[in-house]
Amino acid sequence: MNINQSEDFNSLIEDIIKNNKFKSLNKELHHGISRYDHSMRVAKWTYKICNLFNSQKTDEITRAALLHDFYIDKDLASEKGHEKLGEHPSVALENSLKYFDLNEVQQDIIKSHMFPCTKVIPKYKESWLVSGVDKAVSTYEMLRFKASLYVGIYFLFLFEIIRLPR
Ligand SMILES: [Fe+2]
Ligand SMILES: [Fe+2]
Repeated sequence: MNINQSEDFNSLIEDIIKNNKFKSLNKELHHGISRYDHSMRVAKWTYKICNLFNSQKTDEITRAALLHDFYIDKDLASEKGHEKLGEHPSVALENSLKYFDLNEVQQDIIKSHMFPCTKVIPKYKESWLVSGVDKAVSTYEMLRFKASLYVGIYFLFLFEIIRLPR
């Protein structure tokens, strides 16, 4: 992103990142990082792709991308593991509507982003885009997390070997 793009990106998400509930995503673990960082990455990648294709809806798609996982684990405390997977898009939508105005496309982006893990099929091409970006970002983050985990274990193992008495 160039300076102009990053200024534009920052101003279009400014009110969201100032929201206290959204800030609390910083403390929520997601794919080995915080849910805040994951959401920011999905929003940034979405913003870049929209700009690449000169989309007229860059702002609204980017904002919905940022809000796609707007929930804290406490919101889903009563759900079991696999149910959390299916429930979190509707909780994210509920939380988003509590604080921000969202149009029909933005609401669809959030509630359908887990397709095909959930049965909510995206209705708009914008929803397909964010759902795809979320999957790409999640794969990237999980691989990165696992790679650093394996490197950490390897060095721990190496350290133990070096320490062994000869
Ligand atoms: Fe999600
Ligand atoms: Fe996500």
